[in-house]
Formats: sequence, structure tokens, C-alpha cells
Amino acid sequence: EKGGYEYFMLKEIAEQPQAIADTLLGRLSERGEIILDEVRLTDQDLRDVDKVFIVACGTSYHAGMVAKYAIEHWVRIPCEVELASEFRYRDPILDRSTLVIVISQSGETMDTLMALRHAKEQKARVLAICNTNGSTIPRESDAVLYTHGGPEIAVASTKAFLTQLVACYLIGLHLAQIRGVMYADEVAAVVERLSQAPDNLRELLDGMEDVRALARDLKTASTILFIGRHVGFPVALEGALKLKELAYMHAEGFAAGELKHGPISLIDEGTPVVCVVPSPAGRGVMRDKVVSNIQEVRARGARTIVIAEKGDEGVRAFADHLIEVPHTPTLLAPLMTTVPLQILACEIAAARGHDVDQPRNLAKSVTVE
Ligand code: F6R
Repeated sequence: EKGGYEYFMLKEIAEQPQAIADTLLGRLSERGEIILDEVRLTDQDLRDVDKVFIVACGTSYHAGMVAKYAIEHWVRIPCEVELASEFRYRDPILDRSTLVIVISQSGETMDTLMALRHAKEQKARVLAICNTNGSTIPRESDAVLYTHGGPEIAVASTKAFLTQLVACYLIGLHLAQIRGVMYADEVAAVVERLSQAPDNLRELLDGMEDVRALARDLKTASTILFIGRHVGFPVALEGALKLKELAYMHAEGFAAGELKHGPISLIDEGTPVVCVVPSPAGRGVMRDKVVSNIQEVRARGARTIVIAEKGDEGVRAFADHLIEVPHTPTLLAPLMTTVPLQILACEIAAARGHDVDQPRNLAKSVTVE
């Protein structure tokens, strides 16, 4: 049942190219519109939206963080992302023209469900991104876009995360198109790049042997820090979350620019720091900023594990260990950069002798608040 893999997690990591392809399949009409599975939201409803909230927990929340960058950039409407367990206690300002996007792999997460109910009471429109057909969250939402990741058995979410990203990108592009912010050919250009993601990911997965060796090296570290900027920031948080939940190691993700405001003092001789480097394509300003952050931590003794685009030769000098990923447009990069971090966490946990698929104290679906 594990298809020759030692753990379900490794099997599910390997399934990611297919999961992305399945989530894209049949989702675009000939007019380039996104096909929602159960539509109780009309195009007019979506045109009336003046604010988006994305609400989720854990890994799904990290997908939401990435979505915020994409939606604000493409759709040009304000988008906030919030942890479901915090959302309703803050008394958020919601009305008919608010679109609340709830993201949940299981569709049964109680915190997310309660946030959804709160949003509906306030008359907001609710769109679910979910991997489980007929589960409670999509049933109670106004519309749903199912991720077609297939069943996820390992407690740690991997393929669900990447398919959630794809669903978020599709929704962002759809909103941009029906609201007239992006032209059909601009949308088509991004969709084209999205549809190349499965192949790019296969290529990436084929080159991960090094990460396994690295994991054996890092298994005794007392902490691992992760830094990123822009969409690389949620990727850093996701890398740290995976490591905590599977390897029971201390790990923390930071926005790279925040280091100098405190966390940099954590860095000592040999402290491993995983650095997610943005694409040098375009103006490359963000990439250069992250590279200076890498130099800063290295000057203080950090051992740097750098995740950068293939061909970005300039990072080599600052990388104690370099992991190269295929080129993708900036907003789509998390589809690539997350994957080495999933493998790293999985392999460190295995090297430490833990049950990768069933980490202690955790359940696959969290049905209590
Ligand atoms: C982490 C993980 C959890 C879930 C979170 C939300 O690997 O699996 O953080 O992402 O419990 O679960 P769903 O997406 O089912 O609502």
C-alpha cells in the first residue's frame, strides 16, 4: 500500500507532480474561467467582492499566506489571511461583499469550521478549498474548489499543501479575469507556467539524494532556523512546522528581514539556517536582499542550507549546502521550494528514529477546538 516507499509521507511527496496535474485537470473552461465544483456563487457575486479573508490552520494556513501575495498582486483587492482559531474572536469586519476562503485538507477541522460558521452568520460569502469530498466544510460553504490530491494518509500534510496552492492560484486568476484586472492572455500565460509545474517537480524530485545525506548530518542539531522573504516566508514557516511535528526538534521560521530585529542573536557557531532564495529573474531585488541576509547569518557562524533557483550562481559562495530548484515565476515558486523542506523534515525524523507517518500527540484531522 506504500507502493514501495518506506513511509506514506515519502509516497505522498512523490505523488505531488500527479496531484498538481489532477488539480489543474478540467479546471479551465474554453473561455479560461475556473470551474468550481459546486457553485452557489455567481460571477456577479465574485465581481462584487471588495475584500478577501483566507482562514485556515497549520499547513493550510501557510497555503493561505502564499495565496495572499498572489491574490493581491493579480486581483488588486485587499486580502487578509488569518488563523482560524483567532479569526472569530477578533470580531472581524465582514459583510455580503466579503469573500472568505477557507482552506482545509480534511474538511473537518473544527477551528476552521467554526470560523466558516461565523463568516456565514455575518453574511459573508464562503468558498472552500478542500481535499475531502462531501466533508463538513465544503457542505456548509457557498462554493467549493476541490483539490484532487487523493487521500493523504501521513499525518504531515504534503501533497495537500501543493494542491491547495494550485487551487489558490486558480481562484486568484479567475477573480482577476472576471473582474477585468487581467486579460485572458495574461491569465493564460500564468496557467501555462502552472501546467509546467508537474514536470518541473519531477525533475526536482529526481535530484533529492543530497538532501537525504544532509538530513543525517543535521539530525543532532539543537535547532534549525528557516528564513524567507515574500512567498518564501510562508515556505520557511512550513519547513519549520514540518520539522517540529515530525522530528520533535526546535525549529523556527522567520521573515528574512526580521532577523536583525532580534532573532539573529540566536545564531551561534554552526547553527543550521535554511534560506529560501527568491528567483533572480525580473529585477531580482528580493533575491539580492535575501542573499545579504544569508551573508549576515554566515558572518555570525551559521551553517547555511540554501534553496535557490538553478543557474543562480551568485549564491554558491554563501551556501554551505546548495539545493537547486527549477525556475518558476516568483509567485509560483513555493510549488518547488517547499519540497526539499518536506524531504528534509521527513529524513531527519527518520534518522532520529521517529514514526514519520504518525508523529506523537497529533491526529490527521483535528475535530476539537
Ligand atoms: C501539518 C498539518 C496540520 C494541518 C492542520 C489543518 O503537517 O497537517 O498543520 O495542516 O491541522 O488541517 P486541515 O487542512 O485538514 O484543515
